Formats: sequence, structure tokens, C-alpha cells
Amino acid sequence: MQFLAELLILSYFSIHFAHAQNIFPDHFRLGVASASYQIEGGWNASDKGENIWDRLTHEHPEVIKDNSTGDVACDSYHLWKKDVEILKNLGVDYYRFSISWTRLLPTGRVDKISSDGLKYYNDLIDSLLENKIEPVVTLYHWDLPQALQYFGGWTNLITSDFFAQYARLVFSRFGDRVKTWITINEPYSICETTYGDFQGAPLIHSPGIGDYLCGKTILVAHSKAFHIYDKEFREKQGGKIGITIDTIWAEPRTNKSEDVEAAEREMQMSFGWWAHPIFSTNGDYPEIMKSRIEERSRQENFVESRLPSFTKEEILNLRGSADFLGLNHYNTKLISNTEFPIGEPSFQKDKGTSAFQDPNWKPNKHTVPWGFRKLLNWIKREYDNPLVYITENGFPDEGQLQDVGRVIFHKEMMKAMLQAIGDGCNIQSYTVWSIMDNMEWRDGYTIKFGLYQVDFNNPNRTRTPKASAKFFKTVIETRTIPENITMFIE
Ligand SMILES: *[C@@H]1O[C@H](CO)[C@@H](O)[C@H](O)[C@H]1NC(C)=O
Ligand SMILES: *[C@@H]1O[C@H](CO)[C@@H](O)[C@H](O)[C@H]1NC(C)=O
Ligand SMILES: *[C@@H]1O[C@H](CO)[C@@H](O)[C@H](O)[C@H]1NC(C)=O
Ligand SMILES: *[C@@H]1O[C@H](CO)[C@@H](O)[C@H](O)[C@H]1NC(C)=O
Repeated sequence: MQFLAELLILSYFSIHFAHAQNIFPDHFRLGVASASYQIEGGWNASDKGENIWDRLTHEHPEVIKDNSTGDVACDSYHLWKKDVEILKNLGVDYYRFSISWTRLLPTGRVDKISSDGLKYYNDLIDSLLENKIEPVVTLYHWDLPQALQYFGGWTNLITSDFFAQYARLVFSRFGDRVKTWITINEPYSICETTYGDFQGAPLIHSPGIGDYLCGKTILVAHSKAFHIYDKEFREKQGGKIGITIDTIWAEPRTNKSEDVEAAEREMQMSFGWWAHPIFSTNGDYPEIMKSRIEERSRQENFVESRLPSFTKEEILNLRGSADFLGLNHYNTKLISNTEFPIGEPSFQKDKGTSAFQDPNWKPNKHTVPWGFRKLLNWIKREYDNPLVYITENGFPDEGQLQDVGRVIFHKEMMKAMLQAIGDGCNIQSYTVWSIMDNMEWRDGYTIKFGLYQVDFNNPNRTRTPKASAKFFKTVIETRTIPENITMFIE
């Protein structure tokens, strides 16, 4: 009798446990994201100032794959009520969007505040709250005021002061209602993809130099905004503030020790560049980053390291300057050790690594759930299990309504994340990039990430739900990842 009871209890738990792997923990939050330049349009509406993406797309249309601009994009500047409608229909817990710096401050400075800019974000925030959707706000998602680019933008440390003033204004105007702040979105892309790889605004080619100057300013800017919030607003407003860092998972290409070390170096230098100063016990850049760049700079006849050092005070101000680590993750790559001859400096040469995506990965090279799980565990080990919000995860395709690839991607990635939570990782939210198709930077409108399709040929920019929207709505309703996805696909 006792044996039978035990067997029953055991089988109950094993069934329950198998099921639990697809169920989100209590209080886990699900949402979607966008960014001002990619959706708002209204590039010159009212008194909005020009930003570096307006400038780039207007002066160098050939840099954008389809020669397009974000002048109109999804026209969310005019159609934001439609956005709230589709968010409500999805049932999301929160909506992550960014504030366009020059819509609020046309010159980038706080001496001139746009009343229409204030009204736009006030209306959006109020409407989200009326519909029980929490606003999660990014202060900087790549659209730097052109006025600040004239004197060097992020390569000039003074930009951190302008950012701090902008941040204080935003907290004071919206912080009574916004309780989750992200200072900077994707520092790697802001500094490396632009100054290092020459792939985005401000389109200045300065590898191994401009990228590192930019990196220092971005980190200092983040810490200034954090401490302003902490000292002047936290007590009254009671919110949280963090940073969003983008990274691949770096898997060694072979089991040879040089490749295993190269993959670890890739993680330390691409991700640790940003995470180590804020989330590690010692602070500052990772040791390997400092020593490699210093050594190579010496070989290249520089009199000091190309990596600008932090002062003692900057190191202390950065260390611990986040309530959470926002993580954007899109790809896993295979990394091998590569020796580059001395020549023109670059971040890649400083790292001494090469990256490769395996086209034979299943279900496809964009969907590598085991890489995501390994990344989350690496973060847990490396930074003493910080609070992590997944602030972006997404899948590119051509924009079809039957977006099976996207459904499979989010299903598999969310499962891998739940496994990582089972491994003990402290992850509390998952954000789909993106609520709708939008202006995908240098790719223009050629690749799509949305749960909703946007008709860019219709002045109404009609939003239509894809299979992935129906899938994600069900996930949110049931707080469960369905194993069988055929019901979402026609
Ligand atoms: C705004 O930009 C559009 C082009 O996107 C142009 O046709 C229009 O004249 C501009 N409006 C103002 C007020 O400058
Ligand atoms: C973009 O512009 C370039 C040069 O102006 C032109 O050669 C190319 O055909 C254009 N591409 C598209 C998709 O319009
Ligand atoms: C490396 O070794 C592990 C464990 O022995 C094995 O599972 C993995 O496939 C190997 N990876 C490569 C790239 O050979
Ligand atoms: C745009 O929306 C308006 C109002 O709903 C409608 O009257 C109009 O026909 C639509 N235009 C197009 C091109 O679909």
C-alpha cells in the first residue's frame, strides 16, 4: 500500500516536473520592444531636432540597403494609439520603447524643451498605464542629437554630461509613472559597429581608437545617469535602473586549448568590455582586455594604450551601477584563435579571434537555444548571478504572416531560458524584439523582426498580426510555452 502511494506521488511529481519546464515562474514578466528611430517617423514633426540617423540616411542613402530612411517608418508618432491597441491585444505585461532625445530636446541640450515632445511621451505613457501595460523606457537607443555629433559625439567625454542632463530631465518629467529605466541600449553596437566596422551613424571609420573612446564615454554616461537616479529620484519614485548589453554566445570552434581560450577572450572583450566595469567585483575593464590592447599598442609604436583608462573615481562610480543587467541576444558564433599581423589597429586584431556561424545548426543558424542557455550560465558564474532581464530576442525573416521560423525561435529560446532558470540563473523577464516590423537600421526595410506586419506601402501603416503574434499571445495568457505549435499556423 505504502509502495503504491509512493509510486503515485513519484509519478505525480515527474509528470508535474516535465510540465513545469514549460511554465514560467510566478511573477515572471513578458513583453515586447521597439525603438524611437525605428518606428516613430515624424522625423521633422513640430520642433524635433535632427539626429545622427536622420543625417546618415539623408546624406548617404547608399549606405542603407534599400536606400530608405526612418522619416515615416511605422509612423508611430501619429499612430501610437494603434500601437497601444495591438499591445493590449497581445496582453503584454510591459512595453519597452525608447525616447527620441531630439524629439524632447531639439538641440540635445536642456535649455530648450519641446512641449510637443513632452506631450507625445506623456500621452503614450498614460495610455499604456490606463491599459495596464507597464512602460519600460530606454533613454538612448542610437539616435544621438546631430548637434552633439559636431564636437565628436560619443568619442568626446563631454557627451556623458549632456546625457546626464537629458537623463535627469527624463526622470523628473516621466519618473512618477515610469519605474523601469534602461540607460543605454547595446553599447557594443553603438561603438564597435559604427566606429570600428563603419556600419552605422555617425559613419566614422576609426577602428581600435574611436570605438574605445566611444566605449569609455558610454560607460561613464551610464554611471552618471545611474547615480542621478539613485541620489535624486529613487527614494521618491521607487524604480529600477540598468543597462542593456548585446552579446553573442562565443562557442569554441574546436576543443583545442587555443580556441577554448579565444572563445573565453571573445566573451570577456565583447561582452565584458561593458559588463565587467559594472557587474564584476573588481570593476574596470577585464584584465585580458587591458593587457592585450596595451601590448599591441606598444608593438604598433603608440606611446600609451589605445584603450582609454578609467580614473579611480570612474571605476568606483561604475562598479555596481545597475539594478539589473538587460541582455539582448541574437546569435551564437563559433570562435577560433587568430593571429593578426601588426598593421592598422582594430578591435578584432586586439581580440585575436575569428567568428563563424554554422549553417548546419538545427533548427537553423539563427536559432541556437543551447548557446543562449550557456550564455545565461556564463553570466551567472562570471558576475555572481545578477538580476537579468532579457530585453531583446528576435528572429529575422522577410515579413511573411506565416512566420513559422519566428514561432520556433521564440519557443526554443524561451525553453532554453527556462532551463537556465532551472540551472539557478536569476532571470525575471523576456522581451520579444519587436512588436512590429520596422526600420532595421542599415538593412532598411529588407529584414523583418515583428510580431505584427506593417504595410509600408499604405499611408495608414496597417498593422496585421502574424502567426507569432497569436503564439506569443497564448504564451502570455497561459504563462506556458505550448509544445504543439500547429494551431498557430494556417
Ligand atoms: C519634413 O520632411 C519632409 C520629407 O520627409 C519634407 O517633405 C517636409 O517639407 C519637411 N517639413 C518641414 C516642416 O520641414
Ligand atoms: C540605391 O542607390 C544606389 C545609388 O544611388 C543605386 O545604385 C541602387 O540601385 C539603389 N537601390 C535601391 C534598392 O533603390
Ligand atoms: C569538444 O568536446 C566535447 C566533450 O568531449 C564534445 O561534446 C564536443 O562535441 C567537442 N567539440 C568539438 C567542436 O569538437
Ligand atoms: C486609411 O484609414 C482611413 C480611416 O480608417 C480609411 O478611410 C482609408 O481608406 C485608409 N486608407 C487606405 C489606403 O487604406
